[in-house]
Order: sequence, then C-alpha cells, then structure tokens
Amino acid sequence: MQKLTFLLGLVLSFSIIAQPKTTSISVDVEGGEHLINRNIYGHFAEHLGRCIYGGFYVGEDNELIPHKAGVRTDVIEALKDLKVPVLRWPGGCFADTYHWMDGIGPKSERPQMVNVWWGGTIEDNSFGTHDFLNLCEELGAEPYLAGNVGSGLVKELSDWVQYVNHPGGSPMSDLRIANGRKEPWGVKYWGVGNEMWGCGGNMKPEFYANLYRQYATFMTDWTNSDGLFRIASGANEWDYKWTEVLMRDVPHNMLEGVALHNYAVINWGAKGPDVDFSEDQYWTTMKNALDMEELVTKHSAIMDKYDPEKKVALIVDEWGGWYETPENQTALYQQNTMRDAMIAGTTLNTFHNHADRVRMANLAQIINVLQAVILTDEEKMILTPTYHVMKMYNVHQDATMLPVEISDMLYFENGHEKLPAISASASKDNDGAIHISLVNIHPEKSHKLEMSIDAKGKTTGTILKSGNLQDHNSFENPDKIAPEAFKGFKKKGNNLNVELPPFSVVVLEIK
Ligand code: AHR
Repeated sequence: MQKLTFLLGLVLSFSIIAQPKTTSISVDVEGGEHLINRNIYGHFAEHLGRCIYGGFYVGEDNELIPHKAGVRTDVIEALKDLKVPVLRWPGGCFADTYHWMDGIGPKSERPQMVNVWWGGTIEDNSFGTHDFLNLCEELGAEPYLAGNVGSGLVKELSDWVQYVNHPGGSPMSDLRIANGRKEPWGVKYWGVGNEMWGCGGNMKPEFYANLYRQYATFMTDWTNSDGLFRIASGANEWDYKWTEVLMRDVPHNMLEGVALHNYAVINWGAKGPDVDFSEDQYWTTMKNALDMEELVTKHSAIMDKYDPEKKVALIVDEWGGWYETPENQTALYQQNTMRDAMIAGTTLNTFHNHADRVRMANLAQIINVLQAVILTDEEKMILTPTYHVMKMYNVHQDATMLPVEISDMLYFENGHEKLPAISASASKDNDGAIHISLVNIHPEKSHKLEMSIDAKGKTTGTILKSGNLQDHNSFENPDKIAPEAFKGFKKKGNNLNVELPPFSVVVLEIK
C-alpha cells in the first residue's frame, strides 16, 4: 500500500513538474495579412424544435409577446447587439425537404408539410421567405439561403433566386411584387444543398459534384453585379475525400465556397448531459471542439492543392456542442454552460487564425437549438454564456488578424492524453486598436501568461468566468454568468503579464 502511495505521489508530482509555471505568447503586430471576415460570426436558424416558432416567430396576432411582424422584439434587440453578420436558413436537413413556394403568399392559404427530420411536426409554412429576408434586413445581417437539392428541382432553386433577386418584369419577380415586396432583397449567399452525404440524399461525392455543377449553372444573380456566392455542401468532419472531389471536379468559376460541418459531440450514441457532465465528459467535448484546428488545417491543405490563390472559401456552416437531454430528442433543446463558452472561445480563435481560408462560419443554432446564443420560454428570454463570448469577441469582425505564437503550453490532462489548455488570437482594427482573445480551458488551474506585444496605448480587459463549469443562466437567474471588467494583467513596455483563471475567456484591448 505504502509503495502504491509512493508511486502515485511520483506520478502526480511528475505531472505537476511537467506543467510550465507560465506560458509565453508573442503577438506579431506588424505581421497581419488577412482580414478576419465578419461572417465568421455567422449564425444558423432551422425549422427545428423551437428555433423558428417560439424562438423567432410568435405570430402576428400574438398579444402576450411584443413583436414586429410576428418576430419577437426582445430577440431582435439582443441579436442587433451581437452584430450578427450572416444568418443561414431554412436548414440543415430541413432545407432539402423545403419547397420555398409553400412559404409565400397569404398565410391562411399556405400548404402544410410534415417536418420529417425533426419529430414529424406539422410545419404550417407561416414563416417563409419574406419573413426571413425582412428579419435579416431588420438585423442588418446578410441572408444565406440553403437550397433544396435533395428533393427539389433545378427549376425550383433557380426560380427562388429569381424571386428574391430579380428587379422586376420577370415571372418570379412579378410574383414577389404581387406578394407585397417591390425591391429585390439581393441575396448573395446560397447553399447548394446540405449534408448531401447524409440527410441531403446519401450521395457519393462524385455524384454530388456533377449535380452541383448542374444546379450552379442555372443560379444567376440577375443583376450582373458582384454575382452570387454559391456554397457547395461540404464534408462531414474527417471526410477529406469529399473536399478533394469537390475541389477537383467542380470548376472554380462556379464555386465560391465549400462547406464543412463539425460538432463537438462526446459520442453520437451517448452524447452526455448538457449540464450535469463530468470532468471526463468535459475533456472529451473539448477534445472534439479543439479538433476543429486539425480539420480546418487539413481541409484547407486539400483546397490549397487545387486553389493555391485561396479564391474558394472554407465555410464552416455548422459547428457547436451537441448534448442529450430528455426533452431534446427531436427538438435539440439544450442548456448552455461555461463548457459552451470554452467551445465558443477556442473555436473562434481557430477561425481567426485561419482567416486566410475560413471566411464564414455558422454556429448551430441561434435560438433554442443546440449551442444557442438565446433561449426562450414563452415571453421570457435569456442570453447564454455563448452569447457573451460572441459579443466580447465581435471586436475582431473585419479586423486584420495578427499572428500569435504560443510556447510552454499548459495542458489539460486526462490519463495519458492531454489537450492544450491555452488558446489565443489577436487582431488590429481600422482605428489601430489591438484585441487579444485568450481562453484557459483548464478546469482547475489558474495560469500565468507572459505576452510580448509591441503596442502602445491603454490596456483594458473583459472576462467571462464562473465558479463551476456547469454554471449557466436560467430563466430564474438570467444574469448568473455575464462579462465583467478584467483587472488581472500588468503591462510594462512590450510585456503584458496576464493571470487567466480556470475555464475563463478574456478579451484585452490596447488602444
Ligand atoms: O443542426 C442540426 C442538424 O445537424 C442539421 O439539420 C444537419 O445539417 C446536421 O446534421
């Protein structure tokens, strides 16, 4: 027994000794080459659970919940504050079952359909194209429409483009005008199907690449301006062959973006709870979230082979944490804890650091579904820790990414495996202000950072932290987790020393 205690002590002290006391981070303030596209802060809204109905749309006759044309005003205000740059709709898997013509014209005459992917609920099509595009206008967000390739027709998708983008005098634009909207919306971003390897039709990449070419040929912008931005349904996680075939077989003059989906899931068969997760489950979730770095690097390398000038963008149009709760089996409703703040902070840092190729991303999903930024319950609404991270970070939108180097990494260990605990990214905006985002995912260890950064100005900071990883905002306690001023740093010349608490997210500004 004594021998065992001694050995255990040795192992423990070895792991303590193996961890550095401080981690060094250098920020290259002159090395910026690429803009962090604001669309990296994009969101995703699907006809699934209570994302659209109850989340956004409560009906034009609702007297309990304040709304504008049926869309909740509390949600609109919160999303304006967040500066949502782009919003993807109507799916997801729903997109390849959706027939857009069912969602236009008088609401009382719209046909119903069965939402086959999401619980067989009856969709009454009361929230359709006009509702969505007007909402985007209200938010100041670019719409990203996901077209139906799996169960639709080429004509159907090309008519949708004409309906929303043709100025007038064509059959579809005249129909739009008859339905009350004179000016076209000018929708730039179009998804050509969703998850074509799965719910979009279980296709092989070679087959889809041909189909993509056919659909993309008939999608025209009708204005001869900048043109449409067509996004091919991309790979699932590690399916590098999918990206390879698309980049090889689709001419690049008809391909503006290739998508990628990756969720942080413990195990698709047993996803684990949203709130009462163990430290082991936290480790596995973070492992899957941090996999984004490798996925983006390797998919980008394949794209580089066919497109060294990086004209085609990598669009991560679904990402986030996915858990299991008794009530979310088909509605995918889940709470959002400090674990989700860790996923958001580290993933956005990855996207910033790959700004040369990753030019849009869409968190799944915006309200009441998966890693939502907003949760609603009838007339009540709360903002999640993920909302706060995205708001703290939005200072990076359209700023120049500054390269960051990290040495003497702190690790979050789990038996023989370990994850880098510190994540960082930086940018310089048009006014010369520098922002640095830092995350410490370690569940116990507060950690010192020694940063070298050649920048003058006043330094201020904001932090998101809490006492427990499982902490979350609730309808009873909506402000349990909220950003606070951060004072845990000292700047002396080009050195900035920071103490990062466990599982915290910090944004520093030097201005
Ligand atoms: O976001 C939920 C679902 O996950 C989407 O509908 C689908 O595209 C993905 O599999």
